[in-house]
Parts: sequence; C-alpha cells; structure tokens
Amino acid sequence: MAFDRSIKIAPSILSADFADFGREIRAIEDQGADWVHVDVMDGHFVPNLTFGPPAVKAFRRHVTTVMDVHLMIAPVDPYIDAYAEAGADILTAHVEAGPHIHRTLQAIRGAGMKAGVALNPGTPAEAVAHLLDLADLVCVMTVNPGFGGQKFIDMTGKIARLREMIGDRPVHVEIDGGVDAQTAPLVVRAGADVLVAGSAVFRGGSVDAPEVYGENIRAIRAAAGAA
Ligand code: DX5
Ligand code: ZN
Repeated sequence: MAFDRSIKIAPSILSADFADFGREIRAIEDQGADWVHVDVMDGHFVPNLTFGPPAVKAFRRHVTTVMDVHLMIAPVDPYIDAYAEAGADILTAHVEAGPHIHRTLQAIRGAGMKAGVALNPGTPAEAVAHLLDLADLVCVMTVNPGFGGQKFIDMTGKIARLREMIGDRPVHVEIDGGVDAQTAPLVVRAGADVLVAGSAVFRGGSVDAPEVYGENIRAIRAAAGAA
C-alpha cells in the first residue's frame, strides 16, 4: 500500500445487504471503490452492534483492494490481534475510546497494520497533536458515530487544521459520515483525501443493479475532483 494523496472513495458496507456481503463487496469493487470501509460497533462505545473478528475475516475473502476497519469499540487493545488476524489493512481506533490511544496506535502498527485514529465531532484536532508520527490515517467524523444515513456535520475548520498539523507526514485524512456529492467538495477543499460513504454509494442500487453503485461512486468522485 504505497502512500498517495489522490482521492479515494471508501464505501461503508454498513449500508450493504447484510445477507449478501460477498457479492456486495465484489459489486462495489467492480464499480470503482478504492477501499472497503468496515464499521465495527460494540453497543457500548456507540449505541449499535455490528461485526466481530470472524465476520471481518469472512469479508476479507472478497476484498481485493484495501480493507479499512473502523473500530467504534472500547476497549480496543484486547481486540487488536484478532482484527489483524481477520486481515484488516488499516485499523482505526477512536481517540475517545480510552486513556491510552498512544499505546493503542503502537500496538496496531506492531501487529502489522496501518494505524488510524478517529475523532468524534466534539473532539478538537489538537487531541491528535502528539500522535501524528504514530498514525497513518486520521479519521474526522462528520456525524456522531453509530449509524449510517445521518446528516453531515460541517467540520471543515477541523479538517483544515489537521492538514496543517500533518504537514509533510504520510498521513491520510479520512472523512466519515454524511459524505455525498454535495458535501464531498467541501471536505476535499479543506484537505481530505479519503471519503467514506455508505448511504450515498448504496442508495438506489443492489447486487442485481450494481451499475447504480458505480454511478453513485462516480458522482462523488467527480464532485470531489471539481473541488
Ligand atoms: C458511522 C459510520 C460510518 C457510516 C457512514 O458510525 O462510521 O462509516 O456508515 O454512513 P453514511 O455515509 O450513510 O453517513
Ligand atoms: Zn466508519
């Protein structure tokens, strides 16, 4: 996985058909997804429950791009090895998930994955000031995590501040929540390079009509490119 700052669209399979993940993953990749975003929720850090390591390991068999695993769980550290074993390429933990995010990021890299750190909307950019040499990705949440399909919260000031703090470091700025063709240009202008999108990619399509996923991905990419 060589680092570059080109725009990457990462569909969140939280909006896929939960009875058909293999075909859903293959459909979004065929239709132009750059990464596959997997939202792991524990019913404790966020009020929703999704995928444990065995489910993520099963997704891995279908992912040929990059499996980007977003942990919305607390604690994180006891599960790092299990998600490494499940085949995550990038493992992202929330800065709010515990007092030792610094150690968590070291452990994620130590387990052979790229390390991401996510910020809830209420958390300032400065929360990651001492973590930027330990992180490969900073994920700026533009919704309060837990559910797909929520309204975008404007965090452009925070995104711009993070880009400035990151400087020349090879660190991605990922935006997660409410990203669509309307909001993508705002976040790209502010400095984002990875756009997670759930409902805006899956809306209107299905494994039997996957070309709609392609149209949705291209619409977001075109809007981002015109930023
Ligand atoms: C929110 C998740 C997101 C979510 C994005 O808790 O982390 O990845 O699935 O979904 P949309 O794009 O529908 O806001
Ligand atoms: Zn996510």
